Amino acid sequence: MSRLSERPVPADVGVARPHESAGLHVTGRALYTDDVAARTPGVLHAHPVCAPHAHALVTRLDPKPAYDVDGVVRVLTADDVPGVNDAGTKHDEPLFPGEVMFHGHAVAWVLGETLEAARIGAAAVEVDYEPLPAILTVVEAIEQESFQGAQPRMERGDVATGFAAATHAFEGEIDFAGQEHFYLETHASLAHIDDDGQVFVQCSTQHPTETQDIVAHVLGLASHQVTVQCLRMGGGFGGKEMQPHGFAAVAALGARLTGRPVRVRLTRQQDMTMSGKRHGFHATWRVGFDDDGLLQALEATLTSDGGWSLDLSEPVLSRALCHIDNAYWIPHFRVDGRVARTHKTSQTAFRGFGGPQGMLVIEDVLGRCAPLLGIDPVELRRRNFYVEGQATPYGQPVRHAERLTRAWDQVVTTGDVVERRAEIALANAADPDRKRGLAITPVKFGISFNFTSFNQAGALVHVYKDGSVLINHGGTEMGQGLHTKMLQVAATALGLPIERVRLAPTRTDKVPNTSATAASSGADLNGAAVKDACDQILARLLPVREQLGPTAMWDDVVRTAYFDRIQLWAAGFYKTEGLFWDGRAMRGEPFKYFAYGVAAAEVSVDRFTGAYEVDRVDIVHDVGDSLSPLVDIGQIEGGFLQGVGWLTLEDLRWDTSDGPGRGRLATQAASTYKLPSLSEMPADLRVALLERATEDGAVYGSKAVGEPPLMLAFAVREALRDAVAAFRPAGESVELASPATPEAVFWAIRGGRG
Ligand code: MTE
Ligand code: MOS
Repeated sequence: MSRLSERPVPADVGVARPHESAGLHVTGRALYTDDVAARTPGVLHAHPVCAPHAHALVTRLDPKPAYDVDGVVRVLTADDVPGVNDAGTKHDEPLFPGEVMFHGHAVAWVLGETLEAARIGAAAVEVDYEPLPAILTVVEAIEQESFQGAQPRMERGDVATGFAAATHAFEGEIDFAGQEHFYLETHASLAHIDDDGQVFVQCSTQHPTETQDIVAHVLGLASHQVTVQCLRMGGGFGGKEMQPHGFAAVAALGARLTGRPVRVRLTRQQDMTMSGKRHGFHATWRVGFDDDGLLQALEATLTSDGGWSLDLSEPVLSRALCHIDNAYWIPHFRVDGRVARTHKTSQTAFRGFGGPQGMLVIEDVLGRCAPLLGIDPVELRRRNFYVEGQATPYGQPVRHAERLTRAWDQVVTTGDVVERRAEIALANAADPDRKRGLAITPVKFGISFNFTSFNQAGALVHVYKDGSVLINHGGTEMGQGLHTKMLQVAATALGLPIERVRLAPTRTDKVPNTSATAASSGADLNGAAVKDACDQILARLLPVREQLGPTAMWDDVVRTAYFDRIQLWAAGFYKTEGLFWDGRAMRGEPFKYFAYGVAAAEVSVDRFTGAYEVDRVDIVHDVGDSLSPLVDIGQIEGGFLQGVGWLTLEDLRWDTSDGPGRGRLATQAASTYKLPSLSEMPADLRVALLERATEDGAVYGSKAVGEPPLMLAFAVREALRDAVAAFRPAGESVELASPATPEAVFWAIRGGRG
């Protein structure tokens, strides 16, 4: 038994291992939820009846014509719900709505022997609507005061005093886009009912316990009558934290009413039209600097586009407020937040969970103000870094702030930033049509759920008589490599070769009351719980070890222990100590620690089209002592590129006209929604893990890695601004739309806002 962060020698953690399912992924043998449906005899297929209005009352719904369609088995409507007709935890998301709240909202579902029968049946269901006015943009929502949920304020010092001390003050606004998750596996659920009416749902969900809760409340059952299993997900990215529940409930309701297994799997187009996305935001700000360019005061109002219901909008907004400071000390601070209600999909968690949105605001402020202050943006950012001893606006000390400087200096040195900038200046002077730009941006991201109660996890570790080990834990695998890390943690804790350890899929009847696998804390929480279970087993084996001597083999110890009637399995538990958060006052110490990172990006931009390339990116990122370096580097590269997609390519467009298509998502397929792909990978991408970075509060000295690297992508956006500036008169502030698509860059070169 050892301290949580103490790493034994030898240890399996820290070994560069491939993802535990890599072989299955690349050969197509990995089973996903819907693969199980394909192997299930007698399964029924579900198809939604989607409303063609952004906002309307359902005045009549007649399922009868659907039953004339060959192969239609059952139409599900609100009348069929035995429990609560709601798909969320806030009771503002009717599963079968009487009021349509977004274009594509499902008002009923049809079950068929084939998907085709269900689809034709859904088209046959007769629905009359009374259209109502729809709000589609945050700006419209602000004008009409259409808000939902809490309106938090975070405050420190006195902004009036701050602005009085500021010799330079600027103000501005920015409106920036959301993002489609575009996980490869769309939402999927498969429900079975047993002889006693108990429900078993296989679901592509990041939060099996909450899926279980919602299925239970829709069916009017107790939680012990519902089991949810998640084999793995083909990506979640936050989009499966809350959004799977309703689809799982539809499958479960169908199974309950027909006695047959029911499958819900959305097509790409359905998934994009029906499920929530990253929140776009609108922000207004006023900022004050002193003569040295040091931030004195920030005043801002952030309005997120929540879509039709609350979902996770409130915690996403809290995290935005907690990250608007990013890496910078701002003595006087007042930031207000609110959630707009619009007639769109209910926006939800997406990698970074509001953090990226908050940070976009301050990075935009610094990028725009640097020329106005006459200070190089690289220098302006560096100068405003937190130093040890300072605290965030919400009162959390910024521990290990020196890691920011260390990572920054390493990027500058190993990335030859000074030399390259000099070279870029020369090249730009010589080429009027193609300009290069380089920027460096930092990341500071708080790790833990803001909501303190979620920072707990459980695990179940079985040692069998033959010495083999099976672990279960509360986390889900969505490609991020959590299971790989958990195998490595168990092998390390028990001192076994990793081949002796196997991991079983996540199930609510194995480890109950779990938190979502989210907030990047999956490995921190579940890793500590796995280690706790292993430590308990080792403690029980200790007397046997002493009896058999130090050279005794594991298998002999285990066998002897079994015959001595020693319990060979254990349930582990972990809760993160020392956290507190007052969500009303927006103060506390909600995070166990901060993850840090720095990226330098170089781009080149074409004057005539605004088209650009990302030529080189250097990243230094802090993962503590890595549990699994290959996995972590994959997370850094993937997160970074997903951030580049959000900031530069991915462009969600809704029909905002007053025509009949008002509110329809116009970008509902890969043909119209541009995702980053291999061709958008920087030609030269160099990722290094920050050294000497042991995190003494987390399992084996590691740090969370899932979300923070996404925010390294600000370097690309700021590099684009730098390149655009090279086309413009010196000293001019460059405004850049987000996403900074080639079109937006083109307009910025022309001096417009894009
Ligand atoms: N990586 C892959 N490949 N697929 C994903 O869906 N989700 C991200 C991140 N990395 C995701 C991913 C998000 S939003 C989070 S919160 C974390 O993984 C969750 O997993 P962790 O807590 O185990 O890091
Ligand atoms: Mo991640 S957005 O916390 O699922």
